[in-house]
Amino acid sequence: MANLRSQLRLFDNLNSLSLAAAELFVQSAARATVEHGRFLVALSGGTTPTELYELLAQLPYRAKIDWEHLHAFWGDERCVPIDDLENNYRQARDTLLSRVRLPSQNIHRIESGLEPDQAAEDYARVLKRFSTPPLDWPRFDLVLLGMGEDGHTASLFPGSEVNVSSPTLAVTAYYQNRPASRVTLTPVVFNSARRIIFLVSGESKSQTLANVLYGGHQPEQLPAQRIQPTDGELIWMVDQTAASKF
Ligand code: 6PG
Repeated sequence: MANLRSQLRLFDNLNSLSLAAAELFVQSAARATVEHGRFLVALSGGTTPTELYELLAQLPYRAKIDWEHLHAFWGDERCVPIDDLENNYRQARDTLLSRVRLPSQNIHRIESGLEPDQAAEDYARVLKRFSTPPLDWPRFDLVLLGMGEDGHTASLFPGSEVNVSSPTLAVTAYYQNRPASRVTLTPVVFNSARRIIFLVSGESKSQTLANVLYGGHQPEQLPAQRIQPTDGELIWMVDQTAASKF
């Protein structure tokens, strides 16, 4: 928590955390649309953001977002068919994107049907089309991230290379029973964002979270520590159970 623009916000449970995240999402969208005419957001997979996505699809949040100017990207994807329950795009589609008036050309999913290497290269080209020079990728207005029990975030897993210069990577990683073949954005992309929000809930993550936030700097073993925006805001939204080891 060294960065002055890092904040920790604590909530009673996942419901109150998700409500507050929905407010921040609306605020980020409004600010980005006013300031530069569009809102570029990188969504996360995992179960934690499901409630947030469902809230955003409902009133009052749905009516407060200018969907015409929102562009949805993903921080990572599991390389399974798009109708597979484990597909991150499918999850966001079913809980949010198909329920709002978002133009289909504003959905920029990772092509999970391709071989991971190819999908990573393809997504780097997608990012380039939205790039903020001199970067080869956009400065996202908002990045949503989760954290695994092992400290991974997006598909940056413990033991993977820390100093990656490419914007995307193909990854093979075994976590719980989830698909192992993945594509992820890398810290150079995440860290150029204007705002990054971690959503963390559950007792099973509490020790790792305490290590990530208050332990020594071990970015190789705790990939969530690789996330440190260079000129942006980092907000950890954490529920009581996840915060129980602080
Ligand atoms: C993925 C992710 C991943 C996720 C964490 C937390 O696609 O698997 O984006 O980084 O955010 O594993 O997942 P939960 O929210 O399910 O705990």
